[in-house]
Amino acid sequence: MATNKDRAFDVVVVGGGPGGYVCAIRAAQLGLSVACVEKRGTLGGTCLNVGCIPSKVLLQSSHHYHTAKEELAAHGVKVAGVELDLAAMMGRKEKVVADFTKGIEFLFKKNKVAYFKGAAAFTGPNALTVTGAEGETAITAKNVVVATGSVSAPLPGVEIDEKRLLSSTGALALAEVPQSLVVIGAGVIGLELGSVWARLGAKVTVVEFLDKILPPFDDEVSKQMQRLLERQGMAFKLAHKVTGVAATKSGAKVTVEPVKGGDALEIAADAVLVAIGRRPYTEGLGLDAAGVSTTDRGFIPVDAHGRTNVAGIYAIGDVVGGLMLAHKAEEEGVAVAETIAGQAGHVNHAVIPSVVYTNPEVASVGKTEQQLKAEGVAYAVGKFPFLANSRAKANGDAQGFVKILADARTDRVLGAHLIGPQAGELIAEVAMAMEFGASAEDIARTCHAHPSLAEAVKEAAMDVAKRAIHA
Ligand code: FAD
Ligand code: NAI
Repeated sequence: MATNKDRAFDVVVVGGGPGGYVCAIRAAQLGLSVACVEKRGTLGGTCLNVGCIPSKVLLQSSHHYHTAKEELAAHGVKVAGVELDLAAMMGRKEKVVADFTKGIEFLFKKNKVAYFKGAAAFTGPNALTVTGAEGETAITAKNVVVATGSVSAPLPGVEIDEKRLLSSTGALALAEVPQSLVVIGAGVIGLELGSVWARLGAKVTVVEFLDKILPPFDDEVSKQMQRLLERQGMAFKLAHKVTGVAATKSGAKVTVEPVKGGDALEIAADAVLVAIGRRPYTEGLGLDAAGVSTTDRGFIPVDAHGRTNVAGIYAIGDVVGGLMLAHKAEEEGVAVAETIAGQAGHVNHAVIPSVVYTNPEVASVGKTEQQLKAEGVAYAVGKFPFLANSRAKANGDAQGFVKILADARTDRVLGAHLIGPQAGELIAEVAMAMEFGASAEDIARTCHAHPSLAEAVKEAAMDVAKRAIHA
């Protein structure tokens, strides 16, 4: 039988997503007694259950389907009768997700993290109740880490039913390929999940309020990526706002209007995906009982060490705002665990890579050109196209470019923006260089294997000094 001792911890982490579970494991590694409370029924949060992982599984599977249908012939590989088995594709996705979520339970056992299945609510700054299938359990903690994540932002007037009117969760689990899909929001989810269904045969139209896709990315990347996606059959209605979404017998009707004013337009579709961002989630957590304040948009403000306004209560991941990315949440989880253990936990928020897993991939780290211009920083640009990279050409996968931005005076790398094959992997090299305060010349003088896609990064770095060899 559990005793009070079993319910008193050095650290209780609320939320078992990439922020929460990583924080719990790191705190346990540091010798603290740790519990993690998760109400979903499985660990891994949004990322593992309905985010990063299932979306990447479907991106990979739909890419294989599209490659087999459209691209293998160019390599001299003839395949006849390529067919889609959507149920098998979805089944594989569920298996990958289940394997990983169970894997985290195993890691909890290995690291002696107590796992409470249920919803946590503060009853005071150091006390929580967990309500689960077995009723209510009271637990106490010297330190609490709030890692409750985020949920899809709603579009007023649209009632998500996950059948025709979808959030990302529904768009990851459709039983049939819709003939037509309207995506509201040309952000990361819109382009990734739009790509999945476009590859599987849907006619995809993306409606975006702003005048560019992927708004936070470098302008040149947004423009070129739009052209590449249009070539793949995706249509874009930029600078348009959605004024109505009505369910019809067979699907939905979306009414859009130019932001600057003008005639409204109706787009009929079998399904509509609303992907207009995510908002912090703290419902039912009882932050008031602990005295934790939130911003008017619901985020929990924290200092550089993840501390909230209440001593002993920390917050990490999507719920604190900034880039809503799994690896950013993980870094914050590690840093907070180390801070609680008396170490110097720290996250360099200036060097968090962002990747969009379209084909080709988009990857970015550091400052964009438009940010540097706004900040009045003098910078030099080095660029290299994948068309001139031998590995990319050999692979038959040579769209896009690498762009490196370096300080004009010191040559220090300030940012990198890539479209291209494996861009999501290549960006790690530049992130590492930036962490070490490297100059573009440091990358340029590092020997890269030949032939490799990474040579495009080296050549872009060489081009900062206008001495690229192959372009
Ligand atoms: P979450 O992962 O949201 O986890 C929070 C957990 O807390 C949830 O499981 C929730 O059930 C639990 N919880 C909430 N309240 C309570 C409570 N009171 N008691 C107990 N438990 C509670 N990011 C990337 O970096 N790469 C990607 O490729 C990527 N792809 C994505 C694709 C999609 C479709 C979506 C939706 C998101 C994607 N993201 C991606 C974003 C990523 O999923 C999030 O940034 C990440 O999951 C945030 O981690 P977190 O730990 O802060 O919160
Ligand atoms: P997002 O913030 O990336 O994009 C939302 C888009 O919707 C923006 O372009 C915005 O201008 C537009 N928009 C907002 N309101 C609108 C309206 N009323 N009408 C038309 N357009 C509107 O958000 P998204 O795509 O929903 O993703 C949520 C979060 O999940 C992101 O912060 C992202 O970081 C994370 N994510 C990360 C992935 C990755 O790292 N590969 C993959 C998927 C999601």
